[in-house]
Amino acid sequence: MAMVGKLRAELDSELRALYGAVPLDDLGTDAAARATVAVTSGVWGVRTEHLDRLPGLGAVVNFGVGYDTTDVEEARRRGVQIANTPDVLTDCVADTTVGLVIDVMRRLSAADRFVRRGKWAEGQVPPLTRRVTGARVGILGLGRIGSAVARRLSGFDIELTYHSRTPRDVPYRYAESPVELAQGCDVLAVTSSGGPESHHLVDAEVIAALGPDGYLVNVARGSVVDEVALVAALEAGQLAGAGLDVFADEPHVPAALLGRDDVVLLPHLGSATVETRSAMTELVLANVERFLSDGTLLTPIG
Ligand code: DGY
Repeated sequence: MAMVGKLRAELDSELRALYGAVPLDDLGTDAAARATVAVTSGVWGVRTEHLDRLPGLGAVVNFGVGYDTTDVEEARRRGVQIANTPDVLTDCVADTTVGLVIDVMRRLSAADRFVRRGKWAEGQVPPLTRRVTGARVGILGLGRIGSAVARRLSGFDIELTYHSRTPRDVPYRYAESPVELAQGCDVLAVTSSGGPESHHLVDAEVIAALGPDGYLVNVARGSVVDEVALVAALEAGQLAGAGLDVFADEPHVPAALLGRDDVVLLPHLGSATVETRSAMTELVLANVERFLSDGTLLTPIG
């Protein structure tokens, strides 16, 4: 069994102890040829060059719901199945999304910096912020995570609109396009999947439609948003703020964002709680176990 990329310590040690797994870079050619399972994470992925080194591979098991770093088409062409870890992380990523909506609109992180820098003690007053309750939120991608965000936000009397590839049977208004969605909301929350189909779905036009009073929150993938257009809009005062858990070139964050109080910058921590990371580890192990016992996967990608 091959481990591709750095896995969390608990998963790495379980895979070594249970299956004798070895990092791909430490596997000799013969052992790599015998490996039937590769375990990776959304940070790394199994690329074509890895598939070339693993000719006997039957399954890729991805720690994380997003698997855009794996060459899915090439893996499928070679008959390699792929599993991810859906459902177990939905709640925590949705919680993070709501946290970002509140933080960026009420400027909580900026206010924390204000206090720490002694500005409150000096008698300064932070700027007024924007009301969350009753705001209009647009959800881009109403999958598991988007739906969980919608459920949570309904407690804030939010007016919800969404856009997905196809309309869903839900009580929220459907927008025909990302631009239409952005035009009709105060906050655009991006919860779609990553990958080529959603690349720059939020482009300069969508950001312009959101407008100078609009906020962008992204917990999906950095690739979904045109980051250059986002920075330009913020710098020109054409967007009120952004709450970002994901970036185009992680862990690098555009330098232009670092000094801004109208953005909240998180280190891709959507699912990073003790409970959820442990549930994700269990689900990876259950997929590996299932594949080794009957050649199927517990949570194959759709
Ligand atoms: C995932 O699992 O793909 C998410 O990005 C977790 O934060």
